[in-house]
Amino acid sequence: MIMKALTAEPLPYLESPVQDSQEFFCFDLPTKPWPGTGKILVTGASGYIGGRLVSELLARGYRVRVMVRGAPASNRNLWPDAEMVIADATDPVQLRRALEGVDTAYYLIHSLRLCPKDAPSSDLKAASAFRTAAEEKQIKRIIYLGGLGDVRNPFSPHLGGRMEVAKELRRGTIPVTVLRAALIIGSGSASYEIISHLVKKLPIIFVPPWAKNRLQPIGIRDVIKYLVGSLEVPETAGKDFELGGPDILTFEQMLRILADVLNSKTFFIPFFFSYLPLYTYPLSLLTPVPNTITQCLMEGLKNEVVVRDNSIKRFVPFEPISYREAIIRAMSREEQDRVHTRWSDAYPPAHVLAVKLHELHGQVAYGARYSLLTPKGSADLFRSICRIGGKEGWFHGNWMWRTRGMLDRILLGVGSIRGRKSPTYLEINDVVDFWRVEDLKQAERLLLRAEMKLPGMAWLEFHIREEEGQQRLSVVAYYDTHTLFGRIYWYLFLPFHHFLFKNLLKEIEKRS
Ligand SMILES: NC(=O)c1ccc[n+]([C@@H]2O[C@H](COP(=O)([O-])OP(=O)(O)OC[C@H]3O[C@@H](n4cnc5c(N)ncnc54)[C@H](OP(=O)(O)O)[C@@H]3O)[C@@H](O)[C@H]2O)c1
Repeated sequence: MIMKALTAEPLPYLESPVQDSQEFFCFDLPTKPWPGTGKILVTGASGYIGGRLVSELLARGYRVRVMVRGAPASNRNLWPDAEMVIADATDPVQLRRALEGVDTAYYLIHSLRLCPKDAPSSDLKAASAFRTAAEEKQIKRIIYLGGLGDVRNPFSPHLGGRMEVAKELRRGTIPVTVLRAALIIGSGSASYEIISHLVKKLPIIFVPPWAKNRLQPIGIRDVIKYLVGSLEVPETAGKDFELGGPDILTFEQMLRILADVLNSKTFFIPFFFSYLPLYTYPLSLLTPVPNTITQCLMEGLKNEVVVRDNSIKRFVPFEPISYREAIIRAMSREEQDRVHTRWSDAYPPAHVLAVKLHELHGQVAYGARYSLLTPKGSADLFRSICRIGGKEGWFHGNWMWRTRGMLDRILLGVGSIRGRKSPTYLEINDVVDFWRVEDLKQAERLLLRAEMKLPGMAWLEFHIREEEGQQRLSVVAYYDTHTLFGRIYWYLFLPFHHFLFKNLLKEIEKRS
């Protein structure tokens, strides 16, 4: 199904950030939109890179079709001028539909949520299906962004997987431009969030031997500029390019620079132990990024990752920003609450792949409802509901939510430390600590689906209804399970629910 996205109504309660022209990364790109470029397909549009690329292409006047696995209304609000196609990259029929009439496709599909074990095989399967469908539909170009690594050293399974995808896409007849980047630094990027949480939280950082390897990070804005620039310079078709910023740094230097920017007194102590899991697991307890992703990213640091071929500069000539500038920009975006995409947008199970509450057709095994009547307006109540979680916390009994979150992280779940993209606005598919927004109706309903480790499936629904000239504010906990342990879990937590949710409602009302 291909549909024209609906024009978005302004949302009075949840002001999502709107980009002004100077905010587009490509406003100073030396290349110009290539006349006659046909329709552009952006795959992985719900991901960190894809989400940012779509807005840039639209701003430059391209006709864009975004490919997503689910079609949350929020995507339509984000890109009212784009076409949207729902397709899974492993489904040949859906892919053929997505590629119909396409000139150039950006290939930004990645199964980071399946890291470290299953991602390479799943990514390879998707790349193979995509290449076949793209050849059948005779598209002109593919542009792929993969990972940068030194071919002289053995790759991590994650990086090896990214290289295999490039090879697979190249096996066909369509010219593929392969861009490779190492650490991408920007607001919402996993690498930036790991580094910044480490420096903010630890007064002493133990530096393993691999933190002395040289790396070449690049700012998100420059990655997007290279992606768009490659499209606008046809000579880049079929070529391989390495992307990097101007600084070659060790991981330790990257931490030190951030500490300097933050003016934080962090002590760095050399530590001889190299064994990676010794670092990645504790690190995942301290940062919003879960262990699976941390492991994949950290594996890449074991080898030197430096650009050896700068030929992209001949085709797309501009000066990338320094590492220091990239982190300052990321911080200021966070402070201004203008983070457009975040690593958590596509992780874990894609919004569309999880069972939805309405799909259970009222057959949920357990439920507990709490409510109160209030004279406050529905808009104010809803605004207050939409601020739960993240730095603000859960308004009441925060230590209980945090303990549950930490327990989840220890069990390798997402944990409440995952936080949220923006403290003030929410859209469908956004994460709120260990929840994900499944449904959102202004001033009426917020439905959160649990993504923490549970012996069942759980949802939390807030809704507001008019009753006798006042508003009834309710919270309903839904829970479904098929196991004995699952049932015990529900009854064990019921007394806590009673305490937490009653007080949560009172706090929401008070803050409205
Ligand atoms: N982010 C970085 O720091 C970084 C650094 C270097 C290179 N790169 C490269 O940049 C590319 C994009 O990375 P990213 O950070 O944007 O990844 P991401 O945020 O994890 O997004 C991955 C995207 O792939 C989609 N996807 C996964 N499996 C799919 C399938 N079977 N069918 C359709 N869509 C599927 C996801 O959709 P759902 O939302 O439906 O899951 C999501 O939109 C990757 O090739 C990566 O190697 C990224």
